[in-house]
Amino acid sequence: MSNPVVLITGALTGIGRAAAVAFAKKGAKVVVAGRRDEAGKALVKELRSFGSEAEFINADVRKEDDVRALVDKTVARFGRLDVAVNNAGTEGRPSPITEQTAESYAATFDTNVLGVVLSMKHEVRAMQAQGSGTIINVSSTYGHEGAAGASIYAGAKHAVEGITKSVALELAKSGIRVNAVAPGPTDTGMLTRFTRTPENKAALVTTVPMGRLGLPEELANAIVFVASEEASFITGHVLNVDGGKTH
Ligand SMILES: NC(=O)c1ccc[n+]([C@@H]2O[C@H](COP(=O)([O-])OP(=O)(O)OC[C@H]3O[C@@H](n4cnc5c(N)ncnc54)[C@H](OP(=O)(O)O)[C@@H]3O)[C@@H](O)[C@H]2O)c1
Repeated sequence: MSNPVVLITGALTGIGRAAAVAFAKKGAKVVVAGRRDEAGKALVKELRSFGSEAEFINADVRKEDDVRALVDKTVARFGRLDVAVNNAGTEGRPSPITEQTAESYAATFDTNVLGVVLSMKHEVRAMQAQGSGTIINVSSTYGHEGAAGASIYAGAKHAVEGITKSVALELAKSGIRVNAVAPGPTDTGMLTRFTRTPENKAALVTTVPMGRLGLPEELANAIVFVASEEASFITGHVLNVDGGKTH
């Protein structure tokens, strides 16, 4: 498909933003979703400068009414939904297990897991009606590895990968592919918040065999590939984009 309709959650910063730019430059019609209207409007202006028909829709992925309306407005505007990138995520409140509370658990799981579940529920509804589509959930290398001091985040991303593989099986014969892209340490605001200090960030870099952070654009390139027809026999897969960190 030459001009797919692409929906990206958490699209106003970091990896989601880079994916929006990458899809727009390839001629996609891009719906960027996020929680801040001014930043959303500014991003749409930039995407339109690349010739993309772009729209911003305000949506908090923890709220089913927002997510339902996001998908319905996308289909109303563009007539279909070809690619959904469920990227919205939070680092939550990383700290040892003894310091976790029901609130800190919910602060992570509500966005990273419930947000993905609600997004897929409504995206699949639209894709089943048209008999095609592809979904990419943004996981993490911590979706299949432990993370000392970030157990709740790692648990949430493990859930994302299990849900991704299961929904891929449910939909395998339907024309809808479901995959995950798992970033390693990537140079975004989240990584800066997650590591807290330059020393912690430098220490994390030493765990990456390539010896550097990933760029949001490198994650975007992987997302665009998994969404493309070149990846037509790939479903239920978790693609590490991590400089060799997972081995
Ligand atoms: N950077 C890394 O090293 C790394 C590594 C592994 C995985 N990841 C994953 O990559 C994805 C993108 O993260 P990033 O690194 O690009 O960080 P980021 O710049 O902080 O992006 C996260 C985006 O998600 C949005 N968001 C958070 N909660 C939301 C909610 N409830 N509803 C809607 N949007 C929400 C944020 O919007 P607001 O500005 O409104 O909060 C922000 O735009 C996340 O799923 C993250 O877990 C990142």
